[in-house]
Amino acid sequence: MLGKRILLIIGGGIAAYKTLDLIRRLTERGAAVTPVLTKAGAEFVTPLSVSALAGAKVHTDLFDLTDEAEMGHIQLSRVADLIVVAPATADLMAKMASGRADDLASTLLLATDTRVLLAPAMNVRMWNHPATQRNLVTLHSDGALVVGPNEGAMACGEFGPGRMAEPLEIVAAIEAAIGSGPLADRHVLVTSGPTHEPIDPVRYIANRSSGAQGTALAAALAALGARVTFVTGPATVLPPDGVKVVRVETAREMLAAVQAALPADAAVFAAAVADWRVANAAGSKMKKDGTGRPPALEFTENPDILATIAQMTAGRPRLVVGFAAETDDVIDHATAKRARKGCDWIVANDVRPETGIMGGAENAVTVISADGAESWPRMSKDQVARKLAARIAEALA
Ligand code: C5P
Repeated sequence: MLGKRILLIIGGGIAAYKTLDLIRRLTERGAAVTPVLTKAGAEFVTPLSVSALAGAKVHTDLFDLTDEAEMGHIQLSRVADLIVVAPATADLMAKMASGRADDLASTLLLATDTRVLLAPAMNVRMWNHPATQRNLVTLHSDGALVVGPNEGAMACGEFGPGRMAEPLEIVAAIEAAIGSGPLADRHVLVTSGPTHEPIDPVRYIANRSSGAQGTALAAALAALGARVTFVTGPATVLPPDGVKVVRVETAREMLAAVQAALPADAAVFAAAVADWRVANAAGSKMKKDGTGRPPALEFTENPDILATIAQMTAGRPRLVVGFAAETDDVIDHATAKRARKGCDWIVANDVRPETGIMGGAENAVTVISADGAESWPRMSKDQVARKLAARIAEALA
């Protein structure tokens, strides 16, 4: 925590009093806290107590001209290692989810690419309201981290989830987020899931990938402190917390999303991308024409996302990892694939139906690199993910 810069946005809720203790806990661990008090927050704690505890000026108003001259709000949001919103009120969460910027706090949150940790606190019915839950899903997909809320008695006299996490729980979440993790400050891109290739507006070609291995890997990388961009096709497994989720359908959309997410320190291509798409996809729903003849679909090759990125001449991620799902001669085919695609490692697995790996919870992989092939024992996809994430951290060290 020593020397880390925390931008702390204090929202308007009774739990704001706990942020005074939070500031003290953070500063005694050596963090520098820059406090921002919303107008509603200032109804619950005073600017004087906040700035006295933080040992820093408290920022309160978007149109403070001195601040704009000295350090604009955009700058304020970018120099931080982490932005913490505590308490994150229903209103602040709604503003963030919809991208509104009508005061200093919401403008900072919209202007930043720094990670954000939310400590929600609100009445239990506000927390359970579909609108707040919808906003929470959106904020998760945008990469926000969330600590709490806890269940218990609330200042409003009701009982249930809505109490802000305790200061020490928030400190632990901050430590995990800015982590001393080996991948702190690293950006890792992960593709996952199948792609859907349209035949017409209502039909598509797909495959059986669940997205389980890619999802587990993204979670394991984030747990080591990486900033993860997770580009996913329509998977059946939900994306993990704390990563930036970019949803796509087709291989071409996936390539565009991957290119837009660069630069990255490492890129892991766990998606099961369709090799082919329908070249003559119809703009309106295909109909039976009464002759009994099925329509003739023509196929054309999709871009190879892994090969495209692995063979970049400028701006290539330092480590490019591909997966190879094979049904026979796994190691030979995967070794040839590594050379053909130009990636650094290939994680190969045997997806013959009798292995139960495709769509299952376990995986048995062989990691092929310039040093040769290393077969790992069969283990859960989560364990494979953690082991691979640790290898990636070693390679980027
Ligand atoms: O050639 P094959 O599909 O077996 O290679 C698998 C690897 O290549 C995986 O890492 C997959 O994510 C990636 N791939 C890709 N774009 C494609 C096809 C495969 O990124 N069009």
